[in-house]
Amino acid sequence: MKEIKITTNSSDETMNVAKSLAKLLNKGDTVVLTGDLGAGKTKFTEGFIGYYGLQDEISSPTFTIINEYSAPISTIYHFDVYRLTDIDEFYAIGGEEYFDKGICLIEWGELIEDALPPENIRILFKIPNNGESSRILNITANGKKYEDILQSLYDDLNK
Ligand SMILES: Nc1ncnc2c1ncn2[C@@H]1O[C@H](COP(=O)(O)OP(=O)(O)OP(=O)(O)O)[C@@H](O)[C@H]1O
Ligand SMILES: [Mg+2]
Repeated sequence: MKEIKITTNSSDETMNVAKSLAKLLNKGDTVVLTGDLGAGKTKFTEGFIGYYGLQDEISSPTFTIINEYSAPISTIYHFDVYRLTDIDEFYAIGGEEYFDKGICLIEWGELIEDALPPENIRILFKIPNNGESSRILNITANGKKYEDILQSLYDDLNK
């Protein structure tokens, strides 16, 4: 499965989608989170981390580019690259070295497009015109491994 579209009607629902995805990922997997300011990228990450019972509320990594969490299955790295000046700054902080070392969730990942692993799961968050509390999540899989993961996510969400 290459693409699915999910509408969530609350931040809890968005966090539940993240928990379903967290169940399916392992060390070395990459999730690229894109979309407008306030669309839910950090909420999604909060749900993802919450699956491991690590923290109820994560801070948006305003001052740090990378936040690190130790989950039993893998270290989880939460990147927010919004404040990087350019992709060279990402290379300079050794950003690429994290991709193999854990599960990486990268907010505003499109800003470092050329540095991203070519195979990944990508989630585009949209705020629909009508809803304060609804969001549209367009999830795409790049690569066979992620297509299988997306199929499993779809099955889990529709069971
Ligand atoms: N269905 C929903 N899913 C996720 N968040 C929602 C939803 N409905 C309302 N919200 C609210 O929208 C906000 C999303 O903020 P969040 O920090 O996750 O956005 P973001 O995409 O990380 O923004 P930024 O680009 O500034 O980092 C939160 O205040 C959350 O409570
Ligand atoms: Mg954010």
